[in-house]
Amino acid sequence: MSIKRLGVVGSGIMGSGIAEVAGKAGIEVVLRSRSQSTADAMVAGLEKSLAKQVDRGKLEAAERDAVLGRVQAVSDLGELADCDLVLESVVEDLAIKKHLFTELDRIVKEGAILATNTSTLPVVEMAMETGRPELVCGIHFFNPAPAMPLVEVVRAITSSDETIATARAFAEACGKNPVLVKDQAGFIVNALLFPYLNNAVKLYDAGVATREDIDAAMQGGCNFPMGPLALLDLVGLDTSLAILEALYAEFKDPNYAPAPLLKRMVSAERLGRKSGQGFFEYGKR
Ligand SMILES: NC(=O)c1ccc[n+]([C@@H]2O[C@H](COP(=O)([O-])OP(=O)(O)OC[C@H]3O[C@@H](n4cnc5c(N)ncnc54)[C@H](O)[C@@H]3O)[C@@H](O)[C@H]2O)c1
Repeated sequence: MSIKRLGVVGSGIMGSGIAEVAGKAGIEVVLRSRSQSTADAMVAGLEKSLAKQVDRGKLEAAERDAVLGRVQAVSDLGELADCDLVLESVVEDLAIKKHLFTELDRIVKEGAILATNTSTLPVVEMAMETGRPELVCGIHFFNPAPAMPLVEVVRAITSSDETIATARAFAEACGKNPVLVKDQAGFIVNALLFPYLNNAVKLYDAGVATREDIDAAMQGGCNFPMGPLALLDLVGLDTSLAILEALYAEFKDPNYAPAPLLKRMVSAERLGRKSGQGFFEYGKR
């Protein structure tokens, strides 16, 4: 099956980025946000992002108009009924995602694939909320979705070969390089990345170095494009905490136990770039 119409649920950092990627790949996109005002804000954000690309000579004006014509933002979940694939990208919370899968199974046409962009949560638990567990898998984009080439295609023990083949082909049609991974917390990237990020928070909290020097050390010493604290701010500290909690729940490995400071920062609503303050400051949002 080839994906001609994609539904995206959630218009946060990742949902908006995925809508842009798929729209540019010539796929019709229906992006569902919980309110029409956030749906409209997402379209305004997409217009801004595409306008920047036109200004930099990276996109033709006609192509910008075509992409905008392909992306429709809605607030009613019922508008996703006709999609070939619905990829949810709502908050990293298993109870919320499971409830959403029950709803999507009721609404979305028979034979369509239901996928999750979760970073760590068990895909099989979402699959088992539906009457079509063979048609459920993970399609994990990276942040920022328009720039990052990787997609992890996650095979739950219930996913069929056809579902996985379609998910891979969809990722390729979006211009991404898919890797296949089984449904285990953190998949490949976050299972390896998050102990490092978590330890950077502990190092900072212990006063071993300033936030600037921790980041500069990993950029200059390991040639990483950004430091760990800036990366946490980009991912979102609430999402990062949820990822660590899911990893810890699965493996009980102390390296995954969230650093106390990370928890405190989330309680204080310092969520990183999206709230304007995290380990660094980003001005008013
Ligand atoms: N941030 C990253 O770097 C990153 C990377 C890859 C995957 N992910 C995954 O993508 C998903 C979304 O993350 P994000 O970074 O876009 O988060 P975000 O905080 O930017 O957006 C979350 C979205 O979920 C919606 N939401 C919140 N509560 C909801 C509810 N009860 N019902 C329905 N929608 C609700 C919000 O309105 C928002 O649109 C998560 O599963 C996350 O693990 C995140």
